[in-house]
Amino acid sequence: MDACIKPLCFELLSEVGEGSYAKVYKAREVGEEQRLLAVKKFNFHASASDNGIPAFIIREVSLLRKMKSFNHPNIVKLLDASVEPVGRSLDLTLVLEYIDQDLSTYLSKVPAAGMSPDCIKNVMLQLLQGLDFLHTNMVLHRDLKPENVLISSRGEIKIADFGMARIYTFNIALTPEVVTLWYRAPEVLLRSVYMSSVDMWSAGCIFAELFLLRPLFQAFTEVQQLQKIFEFIGFPGEEDWPTDSPFSYSFSWGPKVSRNMPLHIVGPEENDLLAKCLTFNPSSRISAAEALAHPFFTRH
Ligand SMILES: Nc1ncnc2c1ncn2[C@@H]1O[C@H](COP(=O)(O)OP(=O)(O)O)[C@@H](O)[C@H]1O
Ligand SMILES: [Mg+2]
Repeated sequence: MDACIKPLCFELLSEVGEGSYAKVYKAREVGEEQRLLAVKKFNFHASASDNGIPAFIIREVSLLRKMKSFNHPNIVKLLDASVEPVGRSLDLTLVLEYIDQDLSTYLSKVPAAGMSPDCIKNVMLQLLQGLDFLHTNMVLHRDLKPENVLISSRGEIKIADFGMARIYTFNIALTPEVVTLWYRAPEVLLRSVYMSSVDMWSAGCIFAELFLLRPLFQAFTEVQQLQKIFEFIGFPGEEDWPTDSPFSYSFSWGPKVSRNMPLHIVGPEENDLLAKCLTFNPSSRISAAEALAHPFFTRH
């Protein structure tokens, strides 16, 4: 048991990314191993009514610490997490294993001829194995997108940023940044309850992107996002519309023409898996475990 964890000492080397909520630095561990690390620093402004560290941050950090013990090959390894009050705000620092690049950067470098079928299969297999693991442990990612999927030089896929979405949601009210809608499931856009199936929707969007080398649904408002989705999957029947959504079922949401089109550049098995990920009704959508047993993966 790793009961007594020494604080990690590191030196920051360079800034690798500035997301909406955090700065990520490349760092090197000081000491024998000299491992490369990614250090992610968040700063939360405590509101006037707050007393100490908000409970939801403590919850999320303890979740991340729990994840650490999982040690799953497709989940980025968290090495340390700490929260520190600094004046009237809070600094949250996560120390992670350093992975060469994210999937978005990787995709931007793929030659126009596209990724090989084996490579696509390998990325999806690992992504779904990671998701299956999170979902089995009752963890939702909620913000799965190529920027939050890391890929090592050896082609290992590591899901990053899970468990943070609740902190983000809280922080959106404080920092009105633009957050991409492109991977967001329709039930989230429709403000209905959601579960692990939201991540399967995002996985479907990423699957299509591996073939297209561009995002499948690129919209800039929530309504436009839903319209793009309906153009592709067809307009759902009223029986599939979420009953708890504040938006009532209306054809005005739908496209003028429902195309219900497969992706022409992919084969029937790929299209079948894609359609099962991009199923409107979250309770009929394929799970990560079911997707891993799909003929796309099992047939050689
Ligand atoms: N463990 C890591 N190793 C290497 N690069 C990382 C790691 N974690 C994040 N990054 C890089 O930093 C970027 C920003 O980090 P991210 O977690 O997406 O921040 P935010 O949550 O603010 O969007 C990522 O898109 C990725 O390119
Ligand atoms: Mg991110």
